[in-house]
Amino acid sequence: MCIYKIEGGIPLQGQVEISCAKNAVLPMIFASLLTTEEVKIKNVPLLSDVQTSLQILQLLGGEYTSGAELCLHNRTLRTSQAPYEAVRSMRASILAMGPLLARMGNVSIALPGGCAIGARPVDLHLKGLTALGADIQLEHGTLQARAKTLHGSQIYLDFPSVGATENIMMAAVLAQGETILNNAAAEPEVEDLANFLCAMGARICGQGSDTIIIEGVNTLHSVQYQPIADRIEAGTFLAAAAACGGDVTLTHINPEHIRAAIAKLTECGAALSETTNSVRIQAAGRPRKIDIKSLPYPGFPTDLQAQFCALASVANGASVIVETVFEQRYNHIAELVRMGADIKIDERTAIINGVEILSGTHVCAPDLRGGAALVIAGLCANGTTELRDEGHLQRGYDHIESKLTQLGAKISLTE
Ligand code: EPU
Repeated sequence: MCIYKIEGGIPLQGQVEISCAKNAVLPMIFASLLTTEEVKIKNVPLLSDVQTSLQILQLLGGEYTSGAELCLHNRTLRTSQAPYEAVRSMRASILAMGPLLARMGNVSIALPGGCAIGARPVDLHLKGLTALGADIQLEHGTLQARAKTLHGSQIYLDFPSVGATENIMMAAVLAQGETILNNAAAEPEVEDLANFLCAMGARICGQGSDTIIIEGVNTLHSVQYQPIADRIEAGTFLAAAAACGGDVTLTHINPEHIRAAIAKLTECGAALSETTNSVRIQAAGRPRKIDIKSLPYPGFPTDLQAQFCALASVANGASVIVETVFEQRYNHIAELVRMGADIKIDERTAIINGVEILSGTHVCAPDLRGGAALVIAGLCANGTTELRDEGHLQRGYDHIESKLTQLGAKISLTE
């Protein structure tokens, strides 16, 4: 159990460097299964989700060393079976399916667990892999898939799922012929994965748009790659600065990836300025109310909805926040209410009547982004907040307590 102790009410000041994107690195780790050659990924933060992915790779027979660079070498694989124990804690484990199918011709993978933010089915992953020629059965909670050969296909996704787009793309790079993926996810992490695969010799175009075209190749080769920065970590720090006031500069971030968050923070009354790889926020006084609807990229990211709920909790006026991506991603609201927030939920809509100030108390992190929301609430609250967390924050934030301390916040972590 981790306990974050936060003394609230201090404006944030200074500069912080944004780490590489968790959601770009995880699929790259699984994509390394597509080659027998060495894969090097630079500046990977050793988040617990990264470690879980590496453990899965090791179980399959892969090898790795971590340091300034993560070196992955999947020369020979021992098995293509990932049992429940290995995958239960992380939803992204399903991303092993496409690469294993392409490399081994069969895969057995238990349906994974992960953050409790909705039902999170994998039907679109399966639909796509089936269209590429896989025969997939669900037996006793485990997906059994096999394909003698994978062949290109035209695939329409009913929803632009990030994971389904990534899984299908990773299988299609080694399929025979052309795959056209319509209504694909356009998230920067999907685009980065496509660029990573291209650097390994894959032939992909259209990444970053809703139509991705993949021309299958016979083999992929070694690569050394620098993933994009974490736009959700960046958005979290910006929301914290807007809620607490202050003057914060984030470095190593592409502002294009956080356009929606920048727009909403500007509506809040904060002043934002940017260079090609940094964003500065200056905020003073109470933020103005904001209305937000989470949407697939380039819409407002669902992964920042909770943090912006915390911000809206102390805004001047009533904010309306609608979560359209996940059906149950409001687990942080009950904890914010315990800190004095005035929030009502009606299905996917949260109506937040901003209060002048929140009050510090004992709260629990319900999930990764919900935990981040409670950190923000604690930073701007009156008094001390003790946030208990079963490890959610460390799944996705690279030393959040040190980075906030660097900005002048009073936050300590006891493990
Ligand atoms: N969905 C289906 N069927 C599927 C796949 C998805 O109905 O086969 C639904 C989901 O239930 C959900 C919606 O589609 O309601 C979006 O899911 P998506 O597949 O896009 O999400 P994901 O791939 O499971 C990734 C991120 C999430 C992020 C979402 C949306 C990774 C490892 N995870 O999840 O990140 O919220 O995209 O942008 O990339 C986080 O970092 O905290 C996190 C949860």
